[in-house]
Amino acid sequence: MDYQSWMTAIGPYSNAVEELKIKFRNVRKEFLEKGEHSPIEFVTGRTKKISSIMSKMKKLDTDHLEDIEDIAGIRLMCQFVEDIYAIVDLIKQRNDMRIILEKDYISNAKESGYRSYHVIIMYPLHSIDGFKEVQCEIQIRTLSMNFWATIEHSLKYKYDHYIPDELATRLKRAADAAFRLDQEMGEIREDIIKAQELFSEKEYATTDTFARVQKLKEIGDMEKYFYYRNKLNEKSKINDIMGIIELKKELDEVLKGMKIGRAREDLF
Ligand code: GTP
Ligand code: MG
Repeated sequence: MDYQSWMTAIGPYSNAVEELKIKFRNVRKEFLEKGEHSPIEFVTGRTKKISSIMSKMKKLDTDHLEDIEDIAGIRLMCQFVEDIYAIVDLIKQRNDMRIILEKDYISNAKESGYRSYHVIIMYPLHSIDGFKEVQCEIQIRTLSMNFWATIEHSLKYKYDHYIPDELATRLKRAADAAFRLDQEMGEIREDIIKAQELFSEKEYATTDTFARVQKLKEIGDMEKYFYYRNKLNEKSKINDIMGIIELKKELDEVLKGMKIGRAREDLF
């Protein structure tokens, strides 16, 4: 096959990589715009080099480009291990990519110490020559897994796939350390989520209490209105969530009393 034929054959894969990079970067953008934690930290993508495709075809003893799963490759990096599964769920919900294979090298780490979650998808691609589905490998991993895999890959390259025993042992230890780092970060994640929940609780309590304060204004009791508005501001400033909830209850009582008072007035 000449160079031009190779480029024509690879074109759809490289277009798929470009489109997928944009789509996953937009997923991150959407989470951030909502003020939420993004399970995607950053996205990279590449099309396999012709020379690498050729040697892999030789290795697999095939003439078919379709037998190479990772001509189009996307990498999604996350902060936490839990994020990886969130991304897999997200991919499953989409109708612009179809999963055909999942490889869980997190529950089943490779002998080398490699950990990542691989998803092989079929991606529908529209080109000037028509429609076709393109196979693409998505590797999903934490920053820590990525750090390890990147270093290990360069060493493999340097030693032409034969890593000396002593170095392999060190790499294995480094993989264990990377695994523990992910575990530690996982514990911190729970604290982050708790803090986020507490924050939304404060939001709800403040909104509810503020609505009751507004009621005082509507009724026309400006003295009480200013009094409770200041109280709410004070408690809000020092993040006193319990105090805001207490204030809400207090306001319920005050408003109930006013209603009864007004109902009595109505009798006369
Ligand atoms: P190859 O490992 O590429 O021959 O493909 P495969 O059919 O065995 O699929 P697999 O899912 O095992 O690996 C696909 C890709 O995952 C590789 O091309 C690498 O990018 C990555 N990978 C797999 N194993 C390792 C590993 O031990 N170290 C590193 N750094 N990357 C790995
Ligand atoms: Mg392999």
